[in-house]
Amino acid sequence: MTTSPPSAAAAVRADTDRAIAQVLDTVRANIRAFGLRYPDDTTRDDRYPLRPAAPGFDEGENRGWTTSFWPGMQWIGWELTGDDVFRDAALAHAADFGRRVREERDLDTHDLGFLYTLSCVAPARLLGDEDARSSALAAAEHLMTRFLPSAGVIQAWGDLADPAQRGRTIIDSLMNMPLLTWAAEQTGDSRYSDVVARHTRELRRRILRPDGSTFHTFYWDAETGEPLRGATEQGAFDDSCWARGQAWGIYGFAMNHRATGDASLLEASRTCAEYFLAHLPADDVPYWDLVYNDGADAPRDSSSGAIAVCGLFELAAVDPEGAPRWRAAAERILASLIAGYTPARAEDADTVLLHSVYDLPKDVGVDEGTLWGDYFFFEALVRAARPDWRPVW
Ligand code: GLY
Repeated sequence: MTTSPPSAAAAVRADTDRAIAQVLDTVRANIRAFGLRYPDDTTRDDRYPLRPAAPGFDEGENRGWTTSFWPGMQWIGWELTGDDVFRDAALAHAADFGRRVREERDLDTHDLGFLYTLSCVAPARLLGDEDARSSALAAAEHLMTRFLPSAGVIQAWGDLADPAQRGRTIIDSLMNMPLLTWAAEQTGDSRYSDVVARHTRELRRRILRPDGSTFHTFYWDAETGEPLRGATEQGAFDDSCWARGQAWGIYGFAMNHRATGDASLLEASRTCAEYFLAHLPADDVPYWDLVYNDGADAPRDSSSGAIAVCGLFELAAVDPEGAPRWRAAAERILASLIAGYTPARAEDADTVLLHSVYDLPKDVGVDEGTLWGDYFFFEALVRAARPDWRPVW
């Protein structure tokens, strides 16, 4: 009897399942290696060092914006396998995030959304965990203090009185809004959803450029509310298009459209997606800034590819007309990430996604694994393999 070759779809499905199995192996190994401590934002030579000590923080302690991607992967691991190893590790981190918010340790950031959605909303949703729920609500309340009513935006970075950061927000902040959307659902308090509606509208109006590209950051006058200017922090130039920012735009605008029903946010997500896809090189994985393309002597940012895959799947879910095209693009990028940007074996690296860039202008984490790249690659794989799975966002 002859067997016919598997269809292209079946082959992609098998590659995805294999990639998921390898990610689970890596997460198990990293749980054993790190315990309750936290890896750094990025790898060094594909291995995660412990998060370095900083004033007031010991080595491996919970600080910065990326620590929640680590329990975020553990929650997905638990959802896929039901293995208590993942749940127990993630619950220990949820308790640690509770301590972080209660003791007000390193909270001067819009990234409370990334931090508390993945670490604490996840167990509140999945297990009905009351402690995690109150930690996430405390974080949401803290995030609300960063809202600048005249400008209608949440300040991204730093102390609210810092003149260098006052009135500045960034495209990444779209991904922090689900914490407030969840808080509105939980409490029935429309203050949270009003801020989401206003912040996302202002971002759509100012951070999205007429050609469909995006600014990384934008400044408002915090007192008068006047929009001032766009600028980059991690991109090549103020007027270039930082690849990760564009990927945050695809995902963030689609997700906030789902939350608010604002049709202009759906259009913004489509616009970001069109621009992103039109600026991909031949292998569909973006250079770190979309001014670069095939032939450029510049590194790729695979993490932007992984975020874009999740964003395109999310966009497909809220845009039935465009869905086949967005899904096909997501699958193409994901197939390329699996084929060319993953370690050959789990034991070869601590990261599951090679060749990302954190901050090239500052020479931080260039051509390395990143905690967010790992998380979004895992989310992308699960979205592809299990279309009925819903992320916590
Ligand atoms: N949210 C920070 C970054 O994407 O690098």
